[in-house]
Amino acid sequence: MLLDLHHLREEYAERKLDASEAHTDPFIQLQQWLNDALMAELPEPNAMTLATCTKEGIPSARVVLLKGVDRSGLDFYTNYHSRKGREIDENPHVAVTFLWLGLQRQVRVEGVVEKLPREQSELYFQSRPLGSRIGAAASPQSEVVDRAVLEADFMRLQAEAEAAGGTFPCPPHWGGYKIIPSRFEFWQGRISRLHDRLEYSRAEAGEWRIVRLAP
Ligand SMILES: Cc1cc2nc3c(=O)[nH]c(=O)nc-3n(C[C@H](O)[C@H](O)[C@H](O)COP(=O)(O)O)c2cc1C
Repeated sequence: MLLDLHHLREEYAERKLDASEAHTDPFIQLQQWLNDALMAELPEPNAMTLATCTKEGIPSARVVLLKGVDRSGLDFYTNYHSRKGREIDENPHVAVTFLWLGLQRQVRVEGVVEKLPREQSELYFQSRPLGSRIGAAASPQSEVVDRAVLEADFMRLQAEAEAAGGTFPCPPHWGGYKIIPSRFEFWQGRISRLHDRLEYSRAEAGEWRIVRLAP
């Protein structure tokens, strides 16, 4: 064995999660935990692992950044032609997880995605620093690429942006998605592996049913 990880063992004892104190609205519960992660100054608290699947059900996962959350869903931005974009085109079912190790917490969200309205994607694109805008446009995300070609394309687009007075349009294949959740799970690490897990699932009438799951 190259690396023995068997002895790594962390005891989680700092916090608990009970249905009596959790919010009945999972979006508010998520906002509270995101806020706790922000207050705790954890690195990249809005980073979430996004799993997508092909139409055959073959999964792939990667980290993206949550850029907005309200009762309509969870928003993130990417290249629509990327591998994740192609998989979402085939199969809108996704899952995300947030991991806040500093708070001994994990959140899982499952649902379907839809594209954000074009105006919202363009507005967000224009709020990004010029370098990020140009980088997004220069990168054929998920394609095989030569670093020198990528950098040359970046320089060419940068010169175009400078000639246009620092303006740069949002490429049509770049934009946002909204995850519309049907299930949330809030996980709080507890002592002796008796962790707390609260599952919220959306009932027919739209209200959220909360149950405790075995750890
Ligand atoms: C902390 C972190 C944040 C990231 N945020 C994003 C993001 O918001 N959007 C994005 O498209 N890729 C983001 N990435 C890059 C993705 O993980 C991934 O490499 C890229 O989207 C291509 O994935 P795909 O080929 O599966 O489509 C991020 C990576 C890390 C490590």
